[in-house]
Amino acid sequence: MISIAVLGHGVVGSGVAEVLTINQGSITEKVGQPVVVKRILDLRSFPQLPYADKFTTNFDDIVNDTEISIVVETMGGLHPAYDYAKAALSAGKSVVTSNKELVAAKGDELLALAQANNVSFLFEASVGGGIPIIRPLWQCLAANEVEGIAGILNGTTNFMLTHMVQDGMSFEDALALAQQLGYAERNPAADVEGMDACRKICILASLAFGKHVYPDQVHTEGITHLTAADVRCAEQLGCVIKLIGKARRTEDGVYCLVAPMLVPKDSILSGVNDVFNAILVQGNAVGDVVFYGKGAGKLPTASAVVADVIDAAKHQGAPHCLSWEPAAPNHVLNSTDEAFSFLIRFETTEREALSARLVESFGDITVVNCLENELVVVTSPLSEKELSRRLSALPEAAPISCLRIASL
Ligand code: HSE
Repeated sequence: MISIAVLGHGVVGSGVAEVLTINQGSITEKVGQPVVVKRILDLRSFPQLPYADKFTTNFDDIVNDTEISIVVETMGGLHPAYDYAKAALSAGKSVVTSNKELVAAKGDELLALAQANNVSFLFEASVGGGIPIIRPLWQCLAANEVEGIAGILNGTTNFMLTHMVQDGMSFEDALALAQQLGYAERNPAADVEGMDACRKICILASLAFGKHVYPDQVHTEGITHLTAADVRCAEQLGCVIKLIGKARRTEDGVYCLVAPMLVPKDSILSGVNDVFNAILVQGNAVGDVVFYGKGAGKLPTASAVVADVIDAAKHQGAPHCLSWEPAAPNHVLNSTDEAFSFLIRFETTEREALSARLVESFGDITVVNCLENELVVVTSPLSEKELSRRLSALPEAAPISCLRIASL
């Protein structure tokens, strides 16, 4: 019998207990012995549950229990999750986590610690919820040099954008519904301000390019400033707006960025709606591969966590060691140097005069007149640095919004 502990009995932690119970028979067959939850750490008690006797508020009951060989961390946040993960790995226990904040901040260190202790540190559920992406990236695509990754990595914002566009729902109502359905983070600012997607693209970029990309190195924009007018302009251009996490390898380093972008309707990512996520990986041998599925929610996320538990249980003593190295600060390039086409909206009643000035300054520019009292243009690809330089030379042209057009 394999005894495990679960840290945190929230949406994901309770889902892990549920999946281990409903699929007990097949999991036992796959592992070759039963996998049993021995302890659950939570500050709350759940007297109504049939496994109420397993709860503890003391981590020492877990880390000092030599029968427990796998610790599942689903608490979220950096502390105490990091301290508990470190203590469990140091005590020779494998750690499985769904915690992207933890992996994005401390992945290099925890992977090295796992390797030193000959145990697993696995985090399939940290990106894309139920979508298999971590294991395919480091195993199935191992023969490739990954050139780029782009994805819809946050289920909450994708759910919100879908309902705001398709049903005219307000930002607040769409967020409340996503929270009610268990998609959003404890603090939904991490979803709507892009930090959750940032942590996920950091994990993917670290894995794909072999060196740690830290969240504070990544330019991150959320969806809080988007308006119905932006959505209408996107529509007119044959695009939809999606929150995109993107990483691209160059000879000098890695570009990494999270921002709402216009996605052309002929791109496979444009049709990804609701809580679904999709991740496009470009390999130099395989070409483009897309991973699609439910990116958040109790059972989809628990599905990925329990798969890691099965992996850790089957490979005790000979763990799968994925790893990446710590990186120098210049590994991540300045995203303001990366070129994009931009959709820019200017408030004006003098469209023709402003458009003439913009043509003078930008040269190649396309006017898309989709809104009254506005001039809306699309630039040819240029860096954000260059865009700011040209706009600052036109003080009369203060944009009311500026969105990148995704190049996928
Ligand atoms: N809040 C996250 C999301 C949960 O909406 O994608 C899954 O990581």
